[in-house]
Amino acid sequence: MNIAAVILAAGQGTRMKSDLPKVLHPIAGKPMVLYALETARALNASTIALVTGHGGDQVRAAIPNYQLLITNLDFVEQRDQRGTGHAVLQARDALRGKTNVVLVMYADMPLLKIETLQRLIDRHAATRGKLTMLTVVSNDSMGFGRILRDPNQRVIGIVEDADATPAQREIRELNCGVYCFDADWLWDNLAQLEPSGKKQEYYLTDLVARAVAQEILVEAETLNDVTEVIGINTRVHLAQAEKIARQRINERWMLDGVTLVDPATTYIDADVEIGMDTRLEPNTQLKGRTRIGAHCVIGANSEIKDSEIGDDCEVRASTIEDATLEDHVEIGPYSHLRGGAYLSRGVHLGNYVEVKNSRLAEEVKAGHFSYLGDAEIGARTNIGAGTITCNFDGAQKNKTIIGADAFIGSDTMLVAPVTIGDRARTGAGSVVTKNVPSDSLAVGAPARVIRKFVNHNS
Ligand code: UD1
Ligand code: CA
Repeated sequence: MNIAAVILAAGQGTRMKSDLPKVLHPIAGKPMVLYALETARALNASTIALVTGHGGDQVRAAIPNYQLLITNLDFVEQRDQRGTGHAVLQARDALRGKTNVVLVMYADMPLLKIETLQRLIDRHAATRGKLTMLTVVSNDSMGFGRILRDPNQRVIGIVEDADATPAQREIRELNCGVYCFDADWLWDNLAQLEPSGKKQEYYLTDLVARAVAQEILVEAETLNDVTEVIGINTRVHLAQAEKIARQRINERWMLDGVTLVDPATTYIDADVEIGMDTRLEPNTQLKGRTRIGAHCVIGANSEIKDSEIGDDCEVRASTIEDATLEDHVEIGPYSHLRGGAYLSRGVHLGNYVEVKNSRLAEEVKAGHFSYLGDAEIGARTNIGAGTITCNFDGAQKNKTIIGADAFIGSDTMLVAPVTIGDRARTGAGSVVTKNVPSDSLAVGAPARVIRKFVNHNS
């Protein structure tokens, strides 16, 4: 079976009240539309058509940014939103003749599971039908279309919420809006839809009645968990979906051997990876493309974004962005790693150390309040409390290079560009403006008495 997926994303999303197109709003750190795209890809869809309208250019531009390797993705434009049937029709030229099955789904239904769609596809394949739809039984109608069945329980139609009679409103079986179609049948019948209902839109759901009129059996696969089909229309829905997505992510990691001391306050983005026996303490946020190794302790109160952390690391109450830690690195509490910080095996940073665009070789130690920017620091060098790389001269950033086994005394100001040799030492409070050769000691800038003053307190 060769499947094409049509993902509908042309709706205005006005109730989000946002400058950002609805489908780009993130859930667990990932734009909503990517959930549908990745699901379609996981289902082995050979071609995917994403139907965009409002904000289409923004949606198009955002997708490559998220490094999605979908080569068979067609962007299809629906200029005016004239209904779900009209939206799917826009994909016809891109898809006709390419596959024998077409799966239709929405970009604003990010919680729908791959397994559920696989069941729908399997059912469609097994019955060799023209139309197989997903339904859900729920007491809350969520404004969904109601499924009409005849006395023999055969599906005979879908009535939209706005068009339903009071009796039809009582029906608890709902249309999820997800369907599998025989491709030829879909493309032939879609073009024949007429505007329908109070809104005079082209209803994709009218295809059910068309199939029934042609004496084609419509199959329905029924879903038990209504949360899977939560559609995002407002930021209230967005927060509900976020919560469910995060619960699923947390459970997956716990089942994969990661300890979450308090899942309710642990926030792991969708694309994060974590090794076995790592322990995440409360109020920890792991964002973006972060990868954490095995046997680490992260948190409490740490935020790590787009960073790579090796095995056996310990990060306490610190902020890490765009940084790399090899194995056995210890950080914090209250340190901050920024873009391009690279900490080799066994590095130890204590409290209030900021590192930016710097490479620290094995076992470098900086125990207390320092700023290390645009620096290269050799193995086993000790950075004393309060050391600052004065990397910015008001016009440009300059490099500080420190050799191996050096000892930088407390409160040293390293005025870059400057190089400190291997095994060199600097005295406490020294202001180093010139290179210090290997095996040498530099001291300086002792305080001088400038003038006397009257002490009013004595
Ligand atoms: C539709 C179904 C309804 C079902 C519900 C489930 C129809 C006529 N009705 O309702 O039976 O219970 O979904 O959520 O199909 N879209 C476009 N272009 C359009 C219109 C919609 O791309 O012209 C997209 C929207 O962005 C959205 C999806 O299609 O992702 C569904 O549209 P929405 O208006 O939310 O669904 P309803 O028509 O209310
Ligand atoms: Ca609608």
